[in-house]
Amino acid sequence: MTRSVFLLAVLVAAAGLPSIAPAQDATEKALEVYRQMLRDDPWSNPGNLDVDRGEQLWKTPRGPKNVSLERCDLGKGPGKVEGAFAELPRYFADADRVMDVETRILWCMVSLQGFSHAELVAKPHPGGGQPVKELGAIATYVAHQSSGMKFAAPLAHPKEKEAAALGEALFVRRSGPFDFACATCHADQGRRIRLQPLPFLSQPAEARKVVGEWPGYRVSTSHVMTLQHRLYDCFWQMRMPQLELGSEASVALVSYLVRQAAGGDVAAPGLKR
Ligand code: HEC
Repeated sequence: MTRSVFLLAVLVAAAGLPSIAPAQDATEKALEVYRQMLRDDPWSNPGNLDVDRGEQLWKTPRGPKNVSLERCDLGKGPGKVEGAFAELPRYFADADRVMDVETRILWCMVSLQGFSHAELVAKPHPGGGQPVKELGAIATYVAHQSSGMKFAAPLAHPKEKEAAALGEALFVRRSGPFDFACATCHADQGRRIRLQPLPFLSQPAEARKVVGEWPGYRVSTSHVMTLQHRLYDCFWQMRMPQLELGSEASVALVSYLVRQAAGGDVAAPGLKR
């Protein structure tokens, strides 16, 4: 175990994390001023560039079959993008499974455009400083077309209920070499690791504030990060096996989070630290 990983484990394992030192408090305040300045001028969010890039990618004929995604059904009929994200994840009869936005776009890129599934999921997320991948840019565009709407994912189909229940079970179940659950870091008020506050995601009031900001522009890594990417990184922090984009576990976790955030606003692309 490296020192920093050990430190992380100790910090999280401690029942109440150490009280915030005044210097940390000042830094956090300064960062908040910076984030607020970016929020005050929506055009300053670099994530908007990926909204535009995603729109072009959506509309351009691409892939071995050289067709656009305009026949892709995100749940509201082929090509209908507006408002679709606010009602995802949902059950899709053609695939006979529940899908979140990224999984559905992946499905459309494979089944309509003929892209290789294996290639799309091999390295789906960008490294620091690299732009979000094409699939992520398309997801950012799609999410933005629901900005200002409330999360209202359907929960009538048995498979939708199943996905949300599996997501909750994964959220609270401790596993992996550190014996962490998502809940270890995200089920208490006021937790933090170093300077990062850990949102209390199992509490709807807090989930409503943050879940709608994904995909979001992450200032510290200079790119748009999608929700699947965020979860992939949290899985990595837990030293769990790699979370595959579009896997049942990933969709279940998104279903759980979106359910916690039900009634909250979609505000994508958001702005993250
Ligand atoms: C070891 C602690 C740890 C565990 C365990 C963990 N996370 Fe996280 N999570 C973090 C940290 C740290 C951040 C904030 C990172 C940042 O600010 O860049 C975060 C951020 C997030 C966010 C974004 C919150 C926001 O502010 O918008 C989501 C959603 C999330 N985690 C979900 C999960 C889920 C689901 C799991 C379980 C699969 C999980 N996390 C497990 C540490 C953890």
